[in-house]
Amino acid sequence: MVFIAFEGGDGAGKSTQVAALAAWLRERGQEVVVTREPGGTELGGRIRELLLHGGEVAPRAEALLFAADRAHHVATFVRPALERGAVVLTDRYVDSSVAYQGAGRDLQAAEIAGLSAWATGGLVPHLTALLDVAPETGRARRSCRVEDRMETEAEAFHARVRQGFLALAEAAPHRYLVLDAAQPPEVISAAVVARVGELLAGADPTLRTPASTSSSSTTAVAAPGPDPAESAAPTRDSAATSEHVAPSAPSSSGEVVGRSESRSGGA
Ligand SMILES: Nc1ncnc2c1ncn2[C@@H]1O[C@H](COP(=O)(O)OP(=O)(O)OP(=O)(O)O)[C@@H](O)[C@H]1O
Ligand SMILES: [Mg+2]
Repeated sequence: MVFIAFEGGDGAGKSTQVAALAAWLRERGQEVVVTREPGGTELGGRIRELLLHGGEVAPRAEALLFAADRAHHVATFVRPALERGAVVLTDRYVDSSVAYQGAGRDLQAAEIAGLSAWATGGLVPHLTALLDVAPETGRARRSCRVEDRMETEAEAFHARVRQGFLALAEAAPHRYLVLDAAQPPEVISAAVVARVGELLAGADPTLRTPASTSSSSTTAVAAPGPDPAESAAPTRDSAATSEHVAPSAPSSSGEVVGRSESRSGGA
């Protein structure tokens, strides 16, 4: 029903926020599926090992392996969950490829975005929560564990990755919630919950009340609607660009949400 991605640099707090939002949604009786990239499927787990803990991978091979993981993940896991009405939360998605392989390495962001669009059949999240934090802050947070192949990159690499994420958010602001991830986790999750509450209220117009247009964390959360496709609301891309206006209903599961070409606006 609703597809939400969490993006940001290493140690930004993605997994923390995914878990907090999942708990909040479950408390309200919503079916939630939590997943991640790379590695959200059995095949993906093997690809993840190759990518993060194997030897050197040539940039184009790396881009293709991430895309292969994503193609399998979307086809066999994400789309089926959306089709049965779940809210799907993914810890990293297309933007991570664009930011890391596009902004961070030698390939063009537009090439990576195009590859991912092909891999996913154009499935774009209804909302992407971007946890923006200085690379040194992220690094300090993960200092206690063994770093993977991406994390050991130089600080300048991570600075380019950060700018890559921000450029994607700037290119399609209505599909993003950019969060200052240096704030305490509870402050961040309150902002996430407020936005997701609005999004879900929009998915089921019968639950849309004046309160649902506020940023209150007590906003009613829609149960899975009878058929989101029946709500004659515009698609997300023609929807409000302001934080203060309730977003329109997401289109039905499996559809392309938003314009994939806006992804190519990255650095
Ligand atoms: N807003 C925050 N402020 C301070 N510490 C935080 C915050 N969010 C998460 N942390 C802590 O920072 C560490 C990294 O958080 P988390 O694992 O959620 O980040 P991540 O973005 O998923 O990292 P990775 O990229 O390594 O998967 C954890 O120890 C977590 O408890
Ligand atoms: Mg994580």
